[in-house]
Amino acid sequence: MRVYCEKDYDQASRRAANIIAAQVVLKPDCVLGLATGSTPVGAYKELIDKCEKGELDFSQVRSVNLDEYKGLSPENDQSYRYFMNTNLFDHINIDKNNTNVPNGLEPDADKACADYDAIIESMGGVDLQLLGLGHNGHIAFNEPAEEFSKGTNCVKLTQMTIDANARFFESKDDVPKEAYTMGIGSIMKAKKILIVACGEDKAEIVKKAFTGPITPQVPASVLQLHPDVTLVGDAAAMKYMV
Ligand code: F6R
Repeated sequence: MRVYCEKDYDQASRRAANIIAAQVVLKPDCVLGLATGSTPVGAYKELIDKCEKGELDFSQVRSVNLDEYKGLSPENDQSYRYFMNTNLFDHINIDKNNTNVPNGLEPDADKACADYDAIIESMGGVDLQLLGLGHNGHIAFNEPAEEFSKGTNCVKLTQMTIDANARFFESKDDVPKEAYTMGIGSIMKAKKILIVACGEDKAEIVKKAFTGPITPQVPASVLQLHPDVTLVGDAAAMKYMV
């Protein structure tokens, strides 16, 4: 595992963006696995900047996102499709037809998950998967569990997550109760993994995930078994790693 400890969030974002950019330069038609959440926003800004300056060309890049809320349309401003459009895709020269997010509007969970696995498979797998890290070690929507999930699956959101998300919706009833997420098995199949963690509040889980035992109770710990992982963090998140 390569570990980069950067001074702050901006430097960590720059480092992460440079790693993604290098992938795009090396293989212009690569498949990028992308994430939502607050962590990658800075890296996405850097990528937009590189694209605007003509330093990076996304015209042949294809992408698959980690997850999507079940029941939310792409136009819903809480959907992950909306997040990706507004934080990245609308501002770079990627062909949106080449970008994929699980279909939140598919009510049949088995079909939604099988369709998404088929999309990933048809693309020949993911070249570089970007990940954020949840406070409990979750990656994508794979929460601590008895076993590691395999392919794309439908997860029930915990009451904690539902309550935390309620502020973004008109009423609590509008908050999605389920989500479609790539499985741990799918994530582990990516050729390269880039995981980014920033902030003091991530320090404990970074230590646990990367120096502790490998267990589905800390889903990210499985990354210790992946042959090509790069961990990028700011000094606060990496304080136990240096
Ligand atoms: C995002 C995702 C989540 C986040 C994680 C960290 O697509 O699947 O696992 O990466 O919850 O979120 P932030 O970056 O907001 O701390």
